[in-house]
Amino acid sequence: MNDSFEILRAECEACTRCELHTTRTNCVFGTGNENADILFVGEAPGDNEDKTGIPFVGRAGQLLDQYLYAVDIPRESVYIANILKCRPPKNRDPLPAEEDACIDFLRRQVKLINPKIIVCLGRISAMRLIRPDYKITREHGEWVRKGNFLITAVYHPALLLRDPRRKEEMLVDMKKIKHELDRIKSERN
Ligand code: URA
Repeated sequence: MNDSFEILRAECEACTRCELHTTRTNCVFGTGNENADILFVGEAPGDNEDKTGIPFVGRAGQLLDQYLYAVDIPRESVYIANILKCRPPKNRDPLPAEEDACIDFLRRQVKLINPKIIVCLGRISAMRLIRPDYKITREHGEWVRKGNFLITAVYHPALLLRDPRRKEEMLVDMKKIKHELDRIKSERN
């Protein structure tokens, strides 16, 4: 099959694979550079994302923007998506069945973008994309190679809003990501 972002987005917007379609305002497909070197993957849309159809536009998203700015990675240069494309009621954690129903959209996004680096935003994303028993407090910022991809996880920005003491560690991790990005770019040139 010749997949494309247009096909995928249309399928996502019409998706009824789990119950979350009954409560969504918008499907939050993903946004950014479709040829990005870095793909950021969060957990699931929140209220602002559900209303706008764009990932990471609420308070957590604004904090993510600040980190991207701090390490000089333009938001427009990356792609941002989530494990779930629809908002779980009251922002509860995704159910395993919802992740199973939705994950194929992310797999196809990864194939289309073919990023060099995948950054999991938070433990839910890391447990799905790195290892089910991933421990974010112990392992954040470490690199894992999976096939063609270098994968890491950082704290979810929503966690940093609740626990600002972890912000310094987040900055260190984001600097590591920028360093790796620069290395990949310089190898290409
Ligand atoms: N939290 C997420 O994990 N994703 C979003 O898009 C917004 C908040």
